[in-house]
Amino acid sequence: MIPTPQYPLYSATLTLLNGVSCPYYLDEDDDWSISINELRRSIQQARQGGTNVRALVVINPGNPVGNCISVARMEEIVDFCVAENLVLLADEVYQENTYNSALPFASFKRVKERMGGRHRDLELFSFHSTSKGFFGECGKRGGYVELSGIDPEVEKQLLKLASIGLCSSVAGQITTDLMVDPPAPGEESYELFVQEKQSIIEVFNSLEAVTCNPAQGALYTFPQVRLSKKAIAEAERRGMTPDAFYCLQLLENTGVSTVPGSGFGQKEGTFHFRCTFLPQEEEFDCFTELVQNFHKRFMEEYSDNS
Ligand SMILES: Cc1ncc(COP(=O)(O)O)c(C=O)c1O
Repeated sequence: MIPTPQYPLYSATLTLLNGVSCPYYLDEDDDWSISINELRRSIQQARQGGTNVRALVVINPGNPVGNCISVARMEEIVDFCVAENLVLLADEVYQENTYNSALPFASFKRVKERMGGRHRDLELFSFHSTSKGFFGECGKRGGYVELSGIDPEVEKQLLKLASIGLCSSVAGQITTDLMVDPPAPGEESYELFVQEKQSIIEVFNSLEAVTCNPAQGALYTFPQVRLSKKAIAEAERRGMTPDAFYCLQLLENTGVSTVPGSGFGQKEGTFHFRCTFLPQEEEFDCFTELVQNFHKRFMEEYSDNS
C-alpha cells in the first residue's frame, strides 16, 4: 500500500519487482493527512481484486505534499498494521525538516514501543537518509534502514543481500555518523551547530506563508491548480497531461521549475504541481512575483470565458 500522491520510488520499485501497488489517497481537505477509513477502503479493494497485501508505506513527513502525521494518527496506523498483519515501511527521511510546532516529528519505532503489548511486535522498517536534513547532502549517499520486530532469519537474509553492494563511500559513512550523532552540548562545535541549524529553520518558517498550502514538513508544497477546459484541451492537443502543460509553460515563461502532480499520482480530475521551497530567502520575492504574474496571464489566456 503506497500513498498517493507519492514519491515515485515506491511505485517504481514495485513495478521492477513485479509487485502490485495498492494506492491510498492522502486527504487534501485535511492537510493531506492519512485517513484510516481510506486505508481500509484501499486494502479491501485490493483484497477483493485478489491481491495479497503485504506492507504499508508511510512517508512522514511527506513528499511531495509536505504533511506531518500526529502521534494519535500514527497509533491508529500501527493498530491498523497489526490488525491487518502488514509490515510497516516508515520512510522518515524528512524527519529534521518540520516546521509546525504542533506536529513535531515522532518515529514509528518510538510510537510502537510506547504503545507496548502486541504493538511492539509490529514488523517495522524505518528509513533515514543524509540526502535531506538541514543541508540536503544528496551527493554524500549515506543512510540507513533500521529493522525492528523482524524475524532474525529475515534479518540474516537482508544482511546478505545488502552485503552484495559492499559498503557506502567513506564520505557517506562519515555523514551518516554525523547525522545520527550530532555535536552534543559541551562539545567544541555544538554552539556553531545549533546556531546554523536555527538559522535554517527560521528561513523555512518565514517562507511558510508564501506557499499555497502551509507545509508541515519535508521540503515541498503541493498546490492544486484548477485548470480551465480550454487549458486542458490545449494540453491534449500538444499531447501532454494538463499539469505537465502548466508546469512547462511556467518553466518557459519564468525559469521556475516545478514537477507535475501526475508524476506522483493524484485524484482523477485534479491537477497539482510540486514546488520546493529551497530557493534562497533573498530570491523568494522575485520567485513568487514571477509565479503570480505567470499564473494570472495563463488563466487569462486559457479562460473558458474568452
Ligand atoms: C520520500 C523519500 N524517500 C526516499 C528518498 C531517497 O533518498 P536518497 O537520497 O537517500 O536516495 C527521497 C528522495 O527524494 C524521498 O523524497
